[in-house]
Amino acid sequence: MDKKDHKLLYVPGPVEVKEDVREACAKPMIGHRTGDFRKLYASIKPKLKKLLYTENAVMVSTSSGSGFMEAAVKNLVGKKVLNCVNGAFSKKWYDIAVACGKPAEKLEVEWGKAVKPDMIDAKLKTGGFDAVCVTHNETSTGVMNNLGEISEVVKKYPDVMFLVDAVSSMGGVKIEVDKLGIDMCLASSQKAFALPPGIAFASVSERAFKKAGTIPGRGYYFDLVELRKAYDKDETPYTPAVSLMYGLDHQLDKFFKEGLDARWERHKRLAKTTRDWAGRMGFQIFPEPGYESITITCIVDTKGMDLKKMQEMMGEKGFSVDKGYRKLNEDLAAKGKKLTFRIPHMGDTSDGDLSDLLKAFEEVIKVL
Ligand SMILES: Cc1ncc(COP(=O)(O)O)c(C=O)c1O
Repeated sequence: MDKKDHKLLYVPGPVEVKEDVREACAKPMIGHRTGDFRKLYASIKPKLKKLLYTENAVMVSTSSGSGFMEAAVKNLVGKKVLNCVNGAFSKKWYDIAVACGKPAEKLEVEWGKAVKPDMIDAKLKTGGFDAVCVTHNETSTGVMNNLGEISEVVKKYPDVMFLVDAVSSMGGVKIEVDKLGIDMCLASSQKAFALPPGIAFASVSERAFKKAGTIPGRGYYFDLVELRKAYDKDETPYTPAVSLMYGLDHQLDKFFKEGLDARWERHKRLAKTTRDWAGRMGFQIFPEPGYESITITCIVDTKGMDLKKMQEMMGEKGFSVDKGYRKLNEDLAAKGKKLTFRIPHMGDTSDGDLSDLLKAFEEVIKVL
């Protein structure tokens, strides 16, 4: 595609990738069994650890985040997994566990609501589970679960693996893996990292590696034991997406140049700007108050607009935007409720970028 035909990506992933990051991905190729590759992975590893405030191994996988979601349940569930479900992606993690042949139980709340720690406590208290899956940021509904509160509950059960999908929050929201006691915290490259899609990241605790060693049927590609052996040598067991890892190394340097605290604050500020804007426009926010996402705002279209038309008109202005998560809007429509659309504000989005986007939305909404 010609550069001039490119629409700025404001869909909930992949998000816009800046030119310097794309250029970093375009470095000359190297073999993955070379010192140059080991140097690259050795450069990335401490940066990912710093990003996640952890001493745990943080691995890169050549897959999207779903690969590590599968790895988590395949390697770390023996008895039964508790899947906290409050949207499409948390439901998907339950489906993955079932597809992997794992005993799994859903702890379901209405979409738009958060999963509360006491609900998790009541389930774990039964002693029937050895893992709990929590989706930090439900991209489908814009709900951000409170990891701090949930971690306090999970810590009471030392035999339970704490598995967190941070696909659309990691890199945009402070996640202190060690403080929270997360055994596996995973994410994809195409969300708040603002990289092209194709790689995923996961921190894995020592006790998780130990447990994986006791779990039969870990499969091949996502066997944590094998991944760890290679990781310790600054390698991957299979051919990795070297270009994306170049991009990652470059992008992580940019994160630290911005400053992690500044990065977390920017994301909070963008979220507030978007929510305030939605309020001024007469819209409502879909998530239950107090659990609004910091990386994506899910808005109730109280005006009953033609969302497809809105998307088309935004496209004409050079922005590729969302018209709501399909399954959520289908369910809302079936109940005769107002539909939703989402505005992501993650990755490298600046205050100015967001202001341009919201201005374009305003112009479109005025004439819709
Ligand atoms: C919260 C969440 N979890 C999991 C996924 C799946 O990630 P991937 O498409 O990278 O496999 C997504 C994708 O949008 C997501 O938003």
